[in-house]
Amino acid sequence: MNKTVICPGSFDPVTLGHLDIITRASGMFDKVIVAVLVNSGKTPTFTTEERIQLLNDAVSGLPNVEIVSFKGLLAEYCKQSGIDTIVKGLRAVSDFEYEFQMAIANKKLNPNLETIFLTADSDSTFLSSSMVREIGSMGGDISNFVPACVHDRIVSKLRK
Ligand code: COA
Repeated sequence: MNKTVICPGSFDPVTLGHLDIITRASGMFDKVIVAVLVNSGKTPTFTTEERIQLLNDAVSGLPNVEIVSFKGLLAEYCKQSGIDTIVKGLRAVSDFEYEFQMAIANKKLNPNLETIFLTADSDSTFLSSSMVREIGSMGGDISNFVPACVHDRIVSKLRK
């Protein structure tokens, strides 16, 4: 069976934690669609185009990964794209309740949709995009938090 899964998120910006989940998913499934949310309640620091470009560069070594953007409901996007499996990372117990609610809501909206959780690797359990944004904008070292190939671009945007 040819299996395509989706890894959705804001990716504002991509972190090594995201890349860990995407890389592991790419080893488990035939194709991984990384879907960047366009119209989130949050106002992103990086534009949709910037987030897509950073992700494209971060996953350049993973041939079965494709970056897309989407608007509206994830469940609807999956239905229209013929995708029935969401892959998300769980960093800590604190992620669980929210992720559990989203997984159930998505299944109510699209009963064919399953959500699979990968446990974040131990180096990423504390990591988030907002932490990267805060440390980077204050001149701190984010080299252990973001993919090396996009580090300089993230730093230069955050320090503006
Ligand atoms: N490593 C590092 N950080 C991670 C991570 C990982 N493995 N997984 C999540 N994060 C962080 C993100 O960096 C982000 O950090 P921030 O809040 O500091 O910026 C935070 O966790 C939340 O992730 P984010 O991608 O912003 O949102 P989400 O996981 O809550 O969900 C969507 C994003 C796109 C899946 C969700 O909003 C969605 O489906 N939206 C579409 C509308 C919809 O369908 N709504 C109904 C859903 S039931």
